[in-house]
Amino acid sequence: MVTNNLKYIDLCGILRLISFPIFFLIIVVSSLVRAETTIYQGNIFHFTDDPSINSNAYQYIENGGLVIEKGIVKDIISESDLTKYQDRAKIIDYSGKIIFPGFIDLHIHYPQTEMIASHGEELLEWLREYTFPTEKKFSDKAYAKEVANFFIKQLYKNGTTSALVFGTVHPESVNALFEVAEREKMRLIAGKVLMDRNAPDYLQDSAESGYAESKTLIERWHNRGRLSYAITPRFAPTSTPQQLELAAKLLNEFPGIYMQTHLAENRKEVEWVKQLFPQARSYLDVYSLYGLNRDRSIFAHAIYVDNMDLQSIAKAGSAIAFCPSSNLFLGSGLFPLYKAESHAVDVGFGTDVGAGTSFSMFQTMADAYKVIQLQKSMGENTRVRSLSPFKAFYLATLGAAKSLNIENKIGNFEKGREADFIVIDLEATDLLKFRMKHAKNLEEQLFALQILGDDRSIYRTYISGEQK
Ligand code: GUN
Ligand code: FE
Repeated sequence: MVTNNLKYIDLCGILRLISFPIFFLIIVVSSLVRAETTIYQGNIFHFTDDPSINSNAYQYIENGGLVIEKGIVKDIISESDLTKYQDRAKIIDYSGKIIFPGFIDLHIHYPQTEMIASHGEELLEWLREYTFPTEKKFSDKAYAKEVANFFIKQLYKNGTTSALVFGTVHPESVNALFEVAEREKMRLIAGKVLMDRNAPDYLQDSAESGYAESKTLIERWHNRGRLSYAITPRFAPTSTPQQLELAAKLLNEFPGIYMQTHLAENRKEVEWVKQLFPQARSYLDVYSLYGLNRDRSIFAHAIYVDNMDLQSIAKAGSAIAFCPSSNLFLGSGLFPLYKAESHAVDVGFGTDVGAGTSFSMFQTMADAYKVIQLQKSMGENTRVRSLSPFKAFYLATLGAAKSLNIENKIGNFEKGREADFIVIDLEATDLLKFRMKHAKNLEEQLFALQILGDDRSIYRTYISGEQK
């Protein structure tokens, strides 16, 4: 009896002793499971295809939920499914707002941030007067880092979660930018400018040094986390044939890296290229001849291109960054989106800061709309149709991701995509709020946003599931 009693007391004591830690453990484990899953509640909107080809190209789920686990999209759920998750997930309420994939900027120069809105010149004079003296400063790594930090914050403020970025000729400029992007876990592609002629001495490399420095940068940064490298010959006039050849050599040596450059942006530039490369059929043909027109090549502007050029781009699987704000600002010309579309060329938007006048993809889409309207009214081609807001929002996300061959990673909310997304406030300004009251459907809402929106319309920006 005595021993039994003792055993009984022992057991009670032990149970009492362990019950608190077990209870505590259950609380911790269940909160950890919950912390792993987060549901963002709001109007979920994304594209699954190109709206000019497929009339069922988008999904819009009013008051649904975007389910994120460990920085990855797990699901999109409807309102009725939200309750099922209630005990298992943390719910963040963005009711009434649009949850959309982050914008992807296909062409931007981070060192030109400080010279945005420089007055009065066309491309070649603008480069000489403003751009080159500014880019000189980026030999200083500490300075470059300061600007890179400011630049990335501007992207976030504007809902841009990924970008293809020009550095300067200095490797330090690219190291600085990648260091910031790595810290931020951002999907970013960038490269050191190659420029071995027709530029001030202080900004020139040589064919060999440009090759060697690019190689070192590729080895250090390409495929490190979410970063990728882009070989970056500035444009045909500032590279010797030898430099272009070595650029192609790097593309062959490191499959998976990108190529970014400028193409046929300005009439005087096109004339100059004809003189420098008389053997080439066209400006694009210079890049083709040197092996730079290929899958993962992104050409900024491409205003003065003909049908053969567009065919060649489509065949190579390269892509065009349409930069309407820059093209209007420098008076470069009007990009024929309808022609590119008819050749099934991949296109996305570039802000092209600092020739572009805004970091905002809304403002870029607004300028794109106006560029197309001008071509329509000029009656040049009866096939020109106004840019629909669906097409514009597609180009700014999934279209750009396809241009970069990373549509399996970003650009929409299909299962397994990286959780880069934004929360859009439709009523960020008095005018937008008033206008939205009179919008009859989603298309009208999106168009008002495209024309009137700016950084104030971006309520939140998330990178890899983390709020910025
Ligand atoms: N062509 C060559 N360099 C540049 C540049 O920095 N900006 C633009 N818009 N066009 C260029
Ligand atoms: Fe540019």
